[in-house]
Amino acid sequence: MDHTTAPALQTRNLTVRFGGHVAVDSVSYDFRPGCLVAIVGPNGAGKTTYFNLISGQLRASSGTVIHQGDDITRLSVPERTRRGIGRAFQLTNLFRDFRFSKTSGLPFRPDTREPWTFFGSPMRTNSQSTPP
Ligand SMILES: Nc1ncnc2c1ncn2[C@@H]1O[C@H](COP(=O)(O)OP(=O)(O)OP(=O)(O)O)[C@@H](O)[C@H]1O
Ligand SMILES: [Mg+2]
Repeated sequence: MDHTTAPALQTRNLTVRFGGHVAVDSVSYDFRPGCLVAIVGPNGAGKTTYFNLISGQLRASSGTVIHQGDDITRLSVPERTRRGIGRAFQLTNLFRDFRFSKTSGLPFRPDTREPWTFFGSPMRTNSQSTPP
């Protein structure tokens, strides 16, 4: 890991208690740009709770979450999202009642059966550029 670049995200002594139960106990870590980090541990270790504290779904009992040098511990989920912090959830079904066939058709337009293109076609962009 490159320890010379400034961390993008940090937690400092991040702690959350549910009554007398300490689910995340003073976790400090520096997440550096370009690094893939895996949080591993047994069931109930506090992994999801740690993610919830970072993304803002849960409020910390103590400690801080720092993003690009700013203390974001008290920011809401939308405020963190606007800063570029996103998360994926373990439950990945978009619509509970959709079977596989319907779910796998979601990326396709119902009128043309072509994939949705939100940002234009990369092929068209290439053909419009001047050849070298
Ligand atoms: N809202 C809550 N209220 C009370 N206790 C909670 C709450 N959320 C989590 N806990 C407890 O905190 C501990 C950590 O739970 P957490 O779900 O973060 O574990 P995990 O590491 O993600 O586990 P798993 O591998 O099963 O996903 C567990 O003992 C859990 O019961
Ligand atoms: Mg979990």
